[in-house]
Amino acid sequence: MIDAIKERAAALLPGLIGMRRHLHQHPELSFREYETAAFVASELDKLGIAYQKGICDTGVVALIPGRNPDKHCIALRADMDALPIQEDNETTYRSRNDGIMHACGHDVHTTCLLGAAAILQEYKDRFEGTIKLIFQPGEEKNPGGASLLIKAGVLDNPAPDAIYGLHVYPQLPAGTAGFRGGQYMASADEIYITIKGKGGHAALPQQTVDPIAVAAMVITGLQQVVSRKSNPLSPTVLTFGKIAGGHTTNVIPNTVELEGTLRTFDEDWRREALGYIRQITSQICAAYGAEALIDIPDGYPSLFNDPETTKQARAFATDFLGAAQVKDLELRMGAEDFAFYTQRIKGCFFRIGTSQNGERYTLPVHNSRFDIDEPALATGAGLMSYIALSALAAKAGTSAGK
Ligand code: NI
Repeated sequence: MIDAIKERAAALLPGLIGMRRHLHQHPELSFREYETAAFVASELDKLGIAYQKGICDTGVVALIPGRNPDKHCIALRADMDALPIQEDNETTYRSRNDGIMHACGHDVHTTCLLGAAAILQEYKDRFEGTIKLIFQPGEEKNPGGASLLIKAGVLDNPAPDAIYGLHVYPQLPAGTAGFRGGQYMASADEIYITIKGKGGHAALPQQTVDPIAVAAMVITGLQQVVSRKSNPLSPTVLTFGKIAGGHTTNVIPNTVELEGTLRTFDEDWRREALGYIRQITSQICAAYGAEALIDIPDGYPSLFNDPETTKQARAFATDFLGAAQVKDLELRMGAEDFAFYTQRIKGCFFRIGTSQNGERYTLPVHNSRFDIDEPALATGAGLMSYIALSALAAKAGTSAGK
């Protein structure tokens, strides 16, 4: 079966490259993936796969029922959104949408899942159970498309036993995959703080409450959360990426705005740390007569790959790609809304290599010149298919067959 899937994926590659380039040329921002969703729907139509579209506006969920479709269900997920980045590549397939770019490879993920859909549809009389394909909006933006789709019932009727998702990984060459069981990616909470002081003449500070001076104390004080409150064995990052206030040398402004992010791996510590951030900020501001308005919307939880599910997926990948092509991944402080699925059901979020021999296409995601070695599309489509078929076969107590 492995050779047959590989041959099929290789035969699909020119078509997958065409799809990926089309999506790359027409990127859309989070929760506005209208053309992308229509493109996905039209490709599913061509394959004769039933789907529901318009879920949370732009989500598309398809089902491929095999034999005994009620027996088990495996879900495969791809995200579809692009980033507000101006593409600097000069390729023929560069973004045609000004200021928007598929710089995180979600065009690749969508294409790989469409490729897997084509393969799995051909194998539908050879597996037991149902394969659910989730084309998800809004991975890049709070509250995360995954959380909204789950509320809309994407993990019900049928409820998947496990979910798998892949992500491009330029640190590894095309043709490889990377896995990590247990904790893999960080939680991410966005922090918005407005410090309200009292503006006035720069030369008469005694008549003001200077929010710029208070903001400096708040930023310095909050470093203590990471350096003195967190367990050094549990990675934590607190970064303020934006500070805005005032406009000239001789005026003390009324307000200063701070924007930052907290990253952790432990959900209990995450809640505790957010409490410290609120408390320290409010109390420092109060000490100097300023007021703190703190807004921390619900962010992404940390991503936990079910150890058994991941061990099994890694073994399937080893069969499919060969042991030398399967790597272990390190912890990442980046976040991913796939974590919402793995809070609910067992899941495995893995990586596919996308560089060319580790020499070309090595720029990191979110870079304005990010690109991939396109044969990775066949690897992604083939591996997703094989993992889904093997996972269902394992549930049925059989083997998908090598
Ligand atoms: Ni991404």
